[in-house]
Amino acid sequence: MNSLEYRAWISRHLEISKDVLYLTQDECRKIPITHEEILDKTEKALIAYSTKKAEMPAKIGIHPLKDTFFHAMPAYIPEEFACGIKWGSCYPENRERFGYSQANGLIIFNDHESGCPLCIMDCIYVTEMRTPAVSYVAAKYLAGRNTKTFGMIGSGVQGRQHVTNISKVLPQLESIYIYDTYEPAMDKLISDLQPGIRAKIIKARSYEEIAKSTEVLASATIITGKPEPKIKDAWIQKGQTLLLCDCHSLYEDATMKRADKYLLDSIEQHNLLIGYGYYPYGLPVVYGEMGEVAAGIKKGRESAEELIVCNNVGMAVEDMMVVRVLFDRALELGIGRKLPL
Ligand SMILES: NC(=O)c1ccc[n+]([C@@H]2O[C@H](COP(=O)([O-])OP(=O)(O)OC[C@H]3O[C@@H](n4cnc5c(N)ncnc54)[C@H](O)[C@@H]3O)[C@@H](O)[C@H]2O)c1
Repeated sequence: MNSLEYRAWISRHLEISKDVLYLTQDECRKIPITHEEILDKTEKALIAYSTKKAEMPAKIGIHPLKDTFFHAMPAYIPEEFACGIKWGSCYPENRERFGYSQANGLIIFNDHESGCPLCIMDCIYVTEMRTPAVSYVAAKYLAGRNTKTFGMIGSGVQGRQHVTNISKVLPQLESIYIYDTYEPAMDKLISDLQPGIRAKIIKARSYEEIAKSTEVLASATIITGKPEPKIKDAWIQKGQTLLLCDCHSLYEDATMKRADKYLLDSIEQHNLLIGYGYYPYGLPVVYGEMGEVAAGIKKGRESAEELIVCNNVGMAVEDMMVVRVLFDRALELGIGRKLPL
């Protein structure tokens, strides 16, 4: 289907420039999409970005309270006719203060031919699904083939999704260690997810235990304005793969700087974050972008001895790739409600 055919198809369901489709978080969750599709779309998004087949400026932000941020995240992927923006916030104390989730926001999906808004949706579901998918892509290329142990620091929205499907890309997994400063989050993760997962989920008692017990270690906790290291460099070994969804917050600078390969999702994005003060010691020498590895331009893991760090702060191309699928399916299936513009 070319761009104008796609537009004509949309017009059969929605009067462009007069209506938008509004999708709540619950409605997003009802749209059928498989884990494999999300993984595939996310990998394509990483490749499109790093091979310059997408337009995505680094996300700009505002920071109203300590350790909080809003990001404006626009992206355009010509091959998918997908363009739009996510306006997402991260407030780490939301649970304690208000009982809300840490991450919130809205996505606007636009018609790339006319610029008109087509859809407004809650962003929680898309963020929840595409962020772990980036870690899965990273694990696929950067982890050892026979990885038996995975660690997840943070048992919140992102941590739970990471644990749910990680064994699809690390099929030999035997143990999944989890660690969270809020014990009930770990208990709930185990009771909810263990029945559907072959690998045994083990509650680690400390950062040290999880760091020393796992070959691949992911984290999704909070992004602090400045790193607040909890994991000592001495606990991290050669051969490990560290997947960060929360920048350098948990790690000592020495670990980042001695990595044999240090990758980012977007070099431009992290350079902007330096300006906001997130990397007070500067970034390590960057080996490349995750999309370059997925595209085969750069090599992933080359030996069992490499310490590899992949720091993915999240990109709007990932959102727009998944949003395009959700929007199409919602229209097809009559999910959501049309609102007048
Ligand atoms: N890279 C990306 O694309 C991306 C996307 C979404 C969220 N994030 C980041 O992922 C993180 C988690 O997001 P979420 O939606 O899962 O949040 P959440 O609030 O649902 O979960 C966070 C969990 O981490 C725990 N935690 C907080 N500080 C901790 C620490 N120092 N050590 C161990 N556990 C700790 C909390 O108790 C909570 O259970 C945030 O930092 C967010 O900014 C990144």
